Amino acid sequence: MSESRDSPYPELKKSHTMAHTGRPWTDHKPPSSAPVWAAIEGLARYHVLLAALELDLFDTIGSTGPVDAPRLARITGTSAPHLRSLLDAVVALGLLEQIGGLYGLNDTARRYLVSDGPATMADLVAVAPGPHDNWGDLAETVRRGGPARPIEDDPVAFYVPLAEGTFTTMARCAARADLRIRYSALHRPRVLDLGAGGAPWAIAVLNANPGATAVINDLPGVLEVARRKVTDHGLGARVEYLPGDFHTVPLAPGSFDIVVLGHICRTEGAEGARHLIGRAHHALREGGTVIVADYFVDPEHKSNPHAVLMGTTMMAATRRGLTFTYGQFAEWLREAGFESLRLIEPIGFQQQFVATRPRTGHEPEGGR
Ligand SMILES: C[S@@+](CC[C@H](N)C(=O)[O-])C[C@H]1O[C@@H](n2cnc3c(N)ncnc32)[C@H](O)[C@@H]1O
Repeated sequence: MSESRDSPYPELKKSHTMAHTGRPWTDHKPPSSAPVWAAIEGLARYHVLLAALELDLFDTIGSTGPVDAPRLARITGTSAPHLRSLLDAVVALGLLEQIGGLYGLNDTARRYLVSDGPATMADLVAVAPGPHDNWGDLAETVRRGGPARPIEDDPVAFYVPLAEGTFTTMARCAARADLRIRYSALHRPRVLDLGAGGAPWAIAVLNANPGATAVINDLPGVLEVARRKVTDHGLGARVEYLPGDFHTVPLAPGSFDIVVLGHICRTEGAEGARHLIGRAHHALREGGTVIVADYFVDPEHKSNPHAVLMGTTMMAATRRGLTFTYGQFAEWLREAGFESLRLIEPIGFQQQFVATRPRTGHEPEGGR
């Protein structure tokens, strides 16, 4: 009685008490097990999406329209009760809708999961976590200080599908970045795209600026993806290809207006990342721009879980993979000689440092 007089909602009041003690804080109320379940379900969630893509469910539903499980099972050659269980899980993940037993695409599926969606990630899902076997070996990787089968042992096998899978997102990001960088307004800019993958950055500049030319680098084998994308965009006449290791391929000094380091630093360790930034500075003419795209972490490595997990993904799959903080990248850029650092985010979760190689007055404007 005394409690109800004290407050109309005594339990609520009790659970919202500030009676936290210690650091990290603890509370007299037992915490929910939800974060543990979220981790356990992470495996199920991923495989539900992967199976739905492997069975072509999003594209099939896209062409049939809302459909029940037995009919979809006949079309996809699957077992109806098993398919229904899978479809219900996809609905639970928020990636399809179900009304009156009919499964249909929702806005998320239409944008990201059908293969011709405007921001499709359909080809990315299988490759984004890196080689799947490495996750089962994570504790050993941490003990040993590196994965047993790093991507570097067979980079072409991993990076060809990755370059295909990331292209749509990165191309959207690179095209949108023009609103911030204005590469379309430069006079006959020359672009160097190191570790270019499908070359989304070079292609964005070439598309936006008819006077632009590009040198596109990647490992032999992976460079074929860029060649295909460049050809698809009808840009082949303005591109030179530079196969080889981005740490050692010869780069003419002072000869580029834009150098792109697109998601290539976090596999290289701190020394490798600094080396690439130094190479970019060397290759740029005075007044030129470096673009460093990556997933950056905050100084305490805890307020951007997406970037933190990306770092763990790199650790699980590559020899030197880690993510670095905004501060580390800024320091390395300044140490290499860059000025006017700024951070842009042309589309959600895709950030780039943009910085300028300052003019010394010794090089003629527009000089190479
Ligand atoms: C994560 S992908 C990034 C692709 C593209 N730059 C982007 O932003 O979407 C990394 C790319 O770096 C390439 N790469 C990795 N190690 C390399 C090396 N030592 N020399 C040249 N390219 C390399 C890979 O083949 C892959 O295409």
